[in-house]
Amino acid sequence: MPSQSAAALAGPVPRMEADPPFLDDLGLVEEHAWSLLERGAKDRRSPYHAPSIATVSDDGPQVRTFTLRGVDRVRSILRFNADARSGLVGQLEADPRAAVHAYSAAEKTQLRLRTLATLHRGDPLAAVAWHATNPSAKRCYLVPPPGSLSGLPTSGLPTPLERRRPIEAESDLGFIHFCVVELKIEAIEWLHVHAIHKRRARFDLHDGCWQGTWLTP
Ligand SMILES: Cc1cc2nc3c(=O)[nH]c(=O)nc-3n(C[C@H](O)[C@H](O)[C@H](O)COP(=O)(O)O)c2cc1C
Repeated sequence: MPSQSAAALAGPVPRMEADPPFLDDLGLVEEHAWSLLERGAKDRRSPYHAPSIATVSDDGPQVRTFTLRGVDRVRSILRFNADARSGLVGQLEADPRAAVHAYSAAEKTQLRLRTLATLHRGDPLAAVAWHATNPSAKRCYLVPPPGSLSGLPTSGLPTPLERRRPIEAESDLGFIHFCVVELKIEAIEWLHVHAIHKRRARFDLHDGCWQGTWLTP
């Protein structure tokens, strides 16, 4: 059997039919990254629906899950809801820098975003988001401050609301604690962990335009 030369081994890797089209196209990678985020906002089963957000705190970095509620590609914004009394919101108030991470095994794609947070409490954006929130979800804002100590195992909910949906007038009391977080995306890192053709790319927002580059994975 003829042996392969080193040059042949170092040459371009032959494409397989099932290869995704973005492997050699930065424009398609950018489109792929945004489409994953947009699907994440709409599809509860998408891993991008529940990404992680990392903040800076006095005790070092903190990371936790959030629910992606909206993506505005034109403004480069992600949106989610939070309790204004939480450590998360307090940390964003003190330092608006936040990193977002999500990975889908099905898509074999990790996204890492560098973002800057803006907080909305009691303003028109918060009012619209509150109106769009169902009463059961609004219930979460009726508990004592998230993370506060409890002598007993607890959901934090008022006892009558443990087992039934609140009526609108009950759940609306939570609006005072409701906060919409908008994350302005400043950079996107995309990593595709295909078994053979790994790819990594970064996109930076400069003067309103996204500029992309390939990186070594
Ligand atoms: C699946 C899932 C979705 C969550 N979604 C949100 C969310 O959208 N907003 C939020 O403030 N916390 C959400 N949480 C709770 C946070 O992960 C975290 O527990 C909460 O923000 C309190 O964290 P902190 O003490 O760091 O503020 C979610 C948790 C899970 C497991």
